[in-house]
Amino acid sequence: MRVYLDNAASTKMDKRVIDAMIPFFLEKYAVPSSQFTHTYGLEVKDAVDEARASFVERIGGKHPEEIIFTSGGTEANNLAVKGVAYANMDKGKHLITTQVEHNSVLNSFRRLEEEGFEVSYLPVNENGIVDMDVLTRCIKKETALISVQYGNHETGTVQDIREIAKLSKEKGILFHTDAAIAWPYLPIDAYNWGIDLITLSPHKFYGPKGIGILFVKKGTKIKKVLDGGFNEFNLRPGTENTPAIIGAKKAAEIFSKEDVDRILLLKKRLIRGIETTIKHVEYNGSKEHSLPHIANLTFKYIEGEAISLRLDFEGIAVITGSACYSKNLQASYILLAMGKNHEQAHGSIRFSLSKYNTEEEIDYTIQKTGEVVSDLRKLSPLGREDEE
Ligand SMILES: Cc1ncc(COP(=O)(O)O)c(C=O)c1O
Repeated sequence: MRVYLDNAASTKMDKRVIDAMIPFFLEKYAVPSSQFTHTYGLEVKDAVDEARASFVERIGGKHPEEIIFTSGGTEANNLAVKGVAYANMDKGKHLITTQVEHNSVLNSFRRLEEEGFEVSYLPVNENGIVDMDVLTRCIKKETALISVQYGNHETGTVQDIREIAKLSKEKGILFHTDAAIAWPYLPIDAYNWGIDLITLSPHKFYGPKGIGILFVKKGTKIKKVLDGGFNEFNLRPGTENTPAIIGAKKAAEIFSKEDVDRILLLKKRLIRGIETTIKHVEYNGSKEHSLPHIANLTFKYIEGEAISLRLDFEGIAVITGSACYSKNLQASYILLAMGKNHEQAHGSIRFSLSKYNTEEEIDYTIQKTGEVVSDLRKLSPLGREDEE
C-alpha cells in the first residue's frame, strides 16, 4: 500500500482543477493586459477578474483589487512583510513576528534586520501559542507591522488571529497573517476580523503550484518589491500565470466542509490509534487549537529521520521536522521554540492528511508505525528496556 501523508508540503491536484485550467493553456492563452487590444485578451481578463471576485468574497474582502496574484505563498509573504515595512518607514522601523513562522516570513524579516529594521520575534508557549500579554508588551509607537501565522505548517497549532488583529487595530498597526497552510481548512474574514494582509497558497488545497495570493486591504500602504511592469495594480510585475489563477479559483470553489470534517475524523483516528498502541508518544502542539489536517508526534528514544525512512520503505510518506530543513538534519526551530529539547525535536514526525486518504490507509499507517517504532527502540539503548 502507498500512503501519502505529506499534504502540508503539497497536495494532489483535484482533476476538476486541471480540467478548468486546460482551456487557459490551449485557447485562452493571451495576457489579460491585452484586453484593450483584442478579444483574446479581454476573455482572459474577464476570467481573471472573476477569480479575484471569487477570492475576495471567500475571505471577507470587499474589493476585487484587494487580491494580488503572485508566484506562490513565499512571494506573497515577501511582498507583505517587505512591502509594508518599506512603505511605512515614516511610522517607524520596528516590526513584530513570531519565532515559529514559515521561512518565507522569517527570512524576509531577517533581511529587513540587515537593512536596519528592528524586529521582535515573539516566543510561544509549550503548545506553540503566542501570549497576548507578551505581544502587547512588545508594541512600540514605531511598530509598523505585526505578522503572525494563522496555523503552523509543522505542528498544526492555530493562533488566535482575531484577538491579534483586534489588538493591532486598537494600536493602529498593520496586521498580516500567513494563512498559507490554514485557509480554507479554517475560515477567515478579513474586514470583520480587522486583518490588513493575508497570504494564501492554492497548492495546499488541491490547486496548482506556482500561484499565491496576497490580500491587501484597500488603503494599506505597501510598496512593490519586484521591479517590472504595472501588473496586479502595480504591486506585482510579471505576466500573470492565468491557468494557475483559474485553477486556484476552482480549487477554492470545490473545497468542502464535508471533506474537512472527514479529514479531521481520520486525523483523530490516527492519533488515537498511535497513542493507544505505542508507548512514550508525545503530541506536539495544541490538540484544542489545531488545523484539521496536521498532527505532529514525538516518538521518544528514537530518531524521526530513522522512522520516516523506515516508513518510506513501507510506502508511507511523512516527514520529520519540516520539509524545508529535513535535508540538513537540524532540529526543528519550531519545536525548539516550543521548549522541546533536541531529543524530542529529533524524534518528531509530521503526519499531514488530505481528502484522498482513507480509513484503510490510516489503519495501515498506525500498524506500520507501531512496528517501525518497536524495531527501532530495540536498537536504541534508551528504548530497549521498554520494548523487551
Ligand atoms: C505556513 C506556510 N507559509 C508559506 C508557505 C510557502 O508557500 P509556497 O509553497 O506557495 O511558496 C508554506 C509552504 O510550505 C507554508 O506552509
